[in-house]
Amino acid sequence: MPAAVALPVPPLAAPRRHARGPLLALATAASALAAAGGAPLAAQTPAPAAAPDRPPDVVFVPTPMEVVHTMLAVTRVGPRDVVYDLGCGDGRIVVTAAKRHGARGVGVDIDPNRIADSRHNVDTSGVKGRVEIRQGDLFTMDLRPATVVTLYLLPRLNVQLRPRLYEQLRPGTRVVSHAFDMGDWEADSTISVEGRTVYYWVMPANVAGRWTVTPAGGRPYTMELEQQYQRARGTATVNGRATPVQNVRLVGNRITLTANGVTLTGRVTGDTMSGGQGASAWQAKRG
Ligand SMILES: C[S@@+](CC[C@H](N)C(=O)[O-])C[C@H]1O[C@@H](n2cnc3c(N)ncnc32)[C@H](O)[C@@H]1O
Repeated sequence: MPAAVALPVPPLAAPRRHARGPLLALATAASALAAAGGAPLAAQTPAPAAAPDRPPDVVFVPTPMEVVHTMLAVTRVGPRDVVYDLGCGDGRIVVTAAKRHGARGVGVDIDPNRIADSRHNVDTSGVKGRVEIRQGDLFTMDLRPATVVTLYLLPRLNVQLRPRLYEQLRPGTRVVSHAFDMGDWEADSTISVEGRTVYYWVMPANVAGRWTVTPAGGRPYTMELEQQYQRARGTATVNGRATPVQNVRLVGNRITLTANGVTLTGRVTGDTMSGGQGASAWQAKRG
């Protein structure tokens, strides 16, 4: 039985790593991927030349190239992006991000055989210098430089990873997952391709708390917001009268909401929100 891996943040779902032994856990993971439309297991690579420090949480099943293209299209990957594929397998996602979209890529895998495959792929695809392949555990990797994160793991691994995504990724970072959702963090959109589902999210800014809103040409009032993932709601209190804040839409750090009968559109930067221009400029401060 492998030692339990200490996670930097408490998992929202209890980890069930290899409770029934590593081999059975791998077989279970493989059938879950296959049930979700994964490639046939016969497509896997030859016998291992080296063993990982601990068994992977999920076996290698490559994402079909058509699905890779969709994942990179839905996230609108471009030359300014840094794409992290967590559990990179043969490196196809980060190599394609670099080769077709001009992005930089970081592929992470725990299995030395996959690392060797990925590095070979990088070397033979002409993207050396733009793609880095790192051996390690995706649950402890520093994700902060990522602007796009790609996943093909398992539902429970996505949910286990979710707090770390919130802890480390900047608002506006795009996350895309082949086949598996993120539990109660609803996707911003889903796409079907080749019988697979691709889930897409944008990391939302944190807008929860008490804000003092100064509207254009108006008197400041208080707005309380509560937030779950990209959804938020709350109340605006003007002259002691509370009314619901409506139509909140949060995409990364861009926010639109209707408070006190006025629709405000702007950006969230830390403890400040602001928008509009000239006579219609508004701002809000948290705290
Ligand atoms: C289903 S494959 C996906 C490969 C690739 N991302 C793709 O979509 O084609 C999952 C990969 O995750 C790797 N993996 C499993 N657990 C891991 C962990 N804790 N840290 C890093 N990689 C892991 C496996 O070795 C495997 O290559």
